[in-house]
Amino acid sequence: MKIKNICCIGAGYVGGPTMAVIAKQCPGIKVTIVDINEARILAWNSNNFDDLPVFEPGLAEIVKETRGRNLFFSTEVDKAIDEAEMIFISVNTPTKTYGKGKGMAADLKYIELCARQIARVAKQDKIVVEKSTLPVRTASAIKSILDNTGNGVQFQILSNPEFLAEGTAVQDLLNPDRVLIGGDTSTKEGNEAVKSLVEVYSNWIPLAQILTTNLWSSELSKLTANAFLAQRVSSINAMSEICEETGADVQEVSKAIGMDSRIGPKFLNASVGFGGSCFQKDILNLVYIAKSYGLNEAADYWEQVILINEHQKNRFSDNIVKTLYNTVSGKNIAFLGWAFKKDTNDTRESPAIKVADNLLNEQALISVYDPKVIEERIYADLDYLNTRSEEENRSLLKVMTNPYQACDNVHAVAVLTEWDEFKDYDWKKIYANMQKPAFVFDGRGVLNKEAMESIGFVYYKIGSGS
Ligand code: NAD
Ligand code: UGA
Repeated sequence: MKIKNICCIGAGYVGGPTMAVIAKQCPGIKVTIVDINEARILAWNSNNFDDLPVFEPGLAEIVKETRGRNLFFSTEVDKAIDEAEMIFISVNTPTKTYGKGKGMAADLKYIELCARQIARVAKQDKIVVEKSTLPVRTASAIKSILDNTGNGVQFQILSNPEFLAEGTAVQDLLNPDRVLIGGDTSTKEGNEAVKSLVEVYSNWIPLAQILTTNLWSSELSKLTANAFLAQRVSSINAMSEICEETGADVQEVSKAIGMDSRIGPKFLNASVGFGGSCFQKDILNLVYIAKSYGLNEAADYWEQVILINEHQKNRFSDNIVKTLYNTVSGKNIAFLGWAFKKDTNDTRESPAIKVADNLLNEQALISVYDPKVIEERIYADLDYLNTRSEEENRSLLKVMTNPYQACDNVHAVAVLTEWDEFKDYDWKKIYANMQKPAFVFDGRGVLNKEAMESIGFVYYKIGSGS
């Protein structure tokens, strides 16, 4: 089937950028992104391109080029489903917060609602594409809902997991390492559906990089990819602790092992811990799936990746308290960065949240500066933890719009995100306005140790024992 109309349900961090790039690269296809969140759709339609709900380098330019041409944002979900031959489901699949599998399994209620809505509305055959990250075998549940509640039309389910990373989403989408498409390869209709989606991507991606598999391999490959990536971060973070004790430097160790072509250089940056909406959620989901098949050793193996990550965040805040003479009560600490990584305004599962919570428990006073994260978001992240009242969070933690103000008169500065601009600050000026001794805790290893020490700072870099 030649695709002329695509609908994407879910205008979030994945749906927005992914569909904007499809619209840019396929001018002959009309792409409509729908969401039940009216404020989000309004923001996507804003004439001020700084107000788009997702910040990604290069994204505003693509939205500017395509919006109103062949890219549309709307809250009219039924209409968009009806018009499209192909419907992407790109809604959130968070960790369950209730019932069986609470704290581990993926919550599929939003997925099921989409499937039921598609079934109710569809009057012609449709291809339904899983873009959200889902537990392996979800496609069979979606198919069952569609076939049993639909209007007798035919549905083909494809799995097309997204591998973009935030902060580099546009580049990752324009130039992906691979695109993965899983389908029912045992039937002619299944193979034809796979071909339709291959054709969409082949507008800009070489065929050799479009990989087709059966549904279950595709679904499971997404969880596997995230588990492997997060595992590398936990592995190097576990080494960072050993480096600190032994006088080794984790950046030197990373470089040394990364030059082995079997290991490779990427994803070996020791940090205060990984964050983001997916690594933890997807590994917990994988652990839950393994346990549900009775595969306890496999489950324990992957769970350790999460446990090391928790340890790394706690270790960072414990070290701040220990270094500041075992008390931070009433002391001012500046946080540079709140986002879970640079070049994004996303803060989901950001390690900064846990580190702040730990330090606030020790009665520290925190001032935060992040170039892209707004005050409202920072307080919402803290309030969500329910550790203390909203009033206490607002009185103990202040959000600043200027980094020098945030660092003014503080006992310590903690670097929580690797924003490039932090490297170029006037650190002499920051030093001059701090309490002495002036401590810097670099949780991302972005500053230069010698330069910082020559200014006079007591400088701690994650994973550096020298
Ligand atoms: P998100 O929360 O930013 O966006 C999801 C959107 O879906 C929300 O705007 C929500 O209002 C909307 N939605 C939920 N139910 C709906 C319904 N029934 N009808 C219409 N809209 C509905 O989430 P995200 O970060 O875009 O992630 C989406 C999926 O993609 C998840 O499964 C995630 O694991 C996966 N993923 C995310 C990333 C990433 O970098 N964020 C990368 C790869 C894969
Ligand atoms: C990650 C994957 O990289 C994507 O392929 C995937 O599509 C996505 O999850 C998803 O499924 O949501 P993302 O979370 O956006 O992307 O960002 P990453 O670059 O993977 O970083 C995740 C976290 O790990 C960040 O907190 C980052 O600072 C941390 N990290 C990453 C390190 O601490 N060290 C590293 O070497 C790399």
